[in-house]
Amino acid sequence: MTLAPRKLFVTTALPYANGAFHIGHIMEYIQADVWVRFQRMRGHKVHFVCADDAHGAPIMIAADKAGKTPQEFVAEIAAGRRAYLDGFAIAFDHWHSTDSPENVELSQSIYRALRAAGLIDVREIEQFYDPVKGMFLPDRYIKGECPVCAAKDQYGDSCEACGAVYSATELRNPFSALSGATPELRRSEHYFFRLSDPRCAAYLQDWTRQNDRRGEARLQPEVLAKAQEWLGGPDGSKLADWDISRDAPYFGIEIPDAPGKYFYVWLDAPIGYLAALKAYCNKAGLDFDTLITDPELEQFHFIGKDIIYFHVLFWPAMLHFAGRKTPERVNVHGFINVSGEKMSKSRGTGISPLRYLELGLDPDWLRYYLAAKLNSKVEDVDFNPEDFIARINSDLVGKLVNIASRCSNFLTRRFDGKLCTPDAAALASFAGSWSGADALAELYERRDTGKVVREVMQYADAVNQYVDARKPWEIAKDPSREAELQMVCSTALTAFRDLALLLAPIIPALAERALAQFGAAERAWEAIGTSLPVGHQVAPYQHLTTRVEGKIIDALFEAPAGAKESPSSPKKPAAAAAEAAVKATISIDDFAALDLRVALVSSAEAVAESRKLIRLTLDVGALGARTVFSGIRSAYEPEQLVGRHVILVANLAPRTMKFGVSEGMVLSAGSDDPAQGNGIFLLEPAPGAKPGMKVS
Ligand code: 2FM
Ligand code: ZN
Repeated sequence: MTLAPRKLFVTTALPYANGAFHIGHIMEYIQADVWVRFQRMRGHKVHFVCADDAHGAPIMIAADKAGKTPQEFVAEIAAGRRAYLDGFAIAFDHWHSTDSPENVELSQSIYRALRAAGLIDVREIEQFYDPVKGMFLPDRYIKGECPVCAAKDQYGDSCEACGAVYSATELRNPFSALSGATPELRRSEHYFFRLSDPRCAAYLQDWTRQNDRRGEARLQPEVLAKAQEWLGGPDGSKLADWDISRDAPYFGIEIPDAPGKYFYVWLDAPIGYLAALKAYCNKAGLDFDTLITDPELEQFHFIGKDIIYFHVLFWPAMLHFAGRKTPERVNVHGFINVSGEKMSKSRGTGISPLRYLELGLDPDWLRYYLAAKLNSKVEDVDFNPEDFIARINSDLVGKLVNIASRCSNFLTRRFDGKLCTPDAAALASFAGSWSGADALAELYERRDTGKVVREVMQYADAVNQYVDARKPWEIAKDPSREAELQMVCSTALTAFRDLALLLAPIIPALAERALAQFGAAERAWEAIGTSLPVGHQVAPYQHLTTRVEGKIIDALFEAPAGAKESPSSPKKPAAAAAEAAVKATISIDDFAALDLRVALVSSAEAVAESRKLIRLTLDVGALGARTVFSGIRSAYEPEQLVGRHVILVANLAPRTMKFGVSEGMVLSAGSDDPAQGNGIFLLEPAPGAKPGMKVS
């Protein structure tokens, strides 16, 4: 089905520029990125941007503590972003900052428009002031005794001991958390956005309950319920005015015609979405004003459940009354927990996304796992290490990769890689195992990636059942069944290409490796369900991904605060040093003593009593057949190995094992350093090598 191209403007929440990304940020970026990649595959035009949320008192104070200007402090944080974004393949068009000329200009212009609409008020308020630091104190920087239970050292908004909520001025014996000084109550003029104006309530009552242009509710039901609660029911208007100003010194944007007053960070933060788009337009040679006023442009924000209020009340009201486009949808997700609990650095249950990348874990594993857990609801997602390992090994390795690894080599070795007409009945039966591309497109559209993954795996199951039933490795033994072999493999690979296309938004790098096998063949969504022409040449099977090992997942968890190193964390420096050291020099004669041969795996089976071993039967040409027990079970399924060439140490002394005699050893690459990943990679000669050939 050809679709009219849509124009989409997509953002994720702007992270505060006071720390590295945590796994919660990465989950949101992955969710949005999957959606964006899907839309792009459908041929829609997407502008996908984000930025650092740079302003506010906490950043100003943290910079001061670090002996830096806020700009220097923020720039250092910003410089660290790329590693994460590239690492997890987040396809933003542009990464910007709220501390930018575009944001100053847009924030001031939106403010002026709101003022012209009669929605800005100026009132005096009374607030705590730190006479030593010379600044008004945000509530979180005021401490004292709880007015209810008298617990000491409580924050200015609520008591951690008894749970009471109060205002800072009610604290007993208050003190500044910055200087320790006793704060003074001082009066100052503040600027307010008049959200209590009946026009705002009327507009938001409407906007929150509308459908988007596709006919779906603009807000998820849980989010609408929250908005209704804040609005005071369907006819309510209990919104309070919003204090949008802060007094100098403050790291922020100056309020026009109000010397010494700055916009509160939450005013200019969402405007940063527009600033990021504007900066992107400048970079890409697009006209921002034309784009943002285009009625066809649909604006989408992906956010966490903690910042709903700002995005479904303040933000649409600000935009609307400033005469601007309002969001099409606000897509809200829950938090991420680890094994059912909130992540905690002190308990060593925090997962660092950078560590994940440094350990060499495949980014597509995390993308796949999170996509499998995410849906369109505001539900928390649980990262469970055992579940993660099981899902990757069973779905990506055991189901997806297994199809190509069992069928590709027969095609490339026997048929010059050429596809023949696939088995139409088999393709029809696969089609019956899942709901089809249009239904999956709708699931992607609604961010129901959990269901997408389930459907795609049903399809993969059907294909694997077909391969299991037809057994190409058996057919390959009978020269009279050549045509059947080509057809079975062509059928499986046609379906494999579909599966790679279906999962491409979720696992882009893995899917690209899989699709590269098919050369320049179409990668758009519309290619799903089509067959490649007869004679289309398929490239030799390339490694797609490995199984996940439990021990590497243990290494993922941050050491508990205070502990030097957790027992399971990798001994990185030692392992890396061992890796770098070269063994003692040998002579050419020592090397010549090795008899290395090319061997063809003619059969392979898992050793039932062992979790590590695979029994290989090797064809070594003139040397005949050999049996070798190889400890490669963690990286390969036996079926993947049949038909593959390996390198055999042919003169290794036979070893009697519990299961039989091992007559040699096959060579593989690997590393003891967890930072390098924990894969086992079999050595394979270049195409053309024949069983029995000497390796020197
Ligand atoms: O909660 C946060 O991390 C904020 N920095 C999010 C801002 S989102 C947008 F409004 F900029
Ligand atoms: Zn208390």
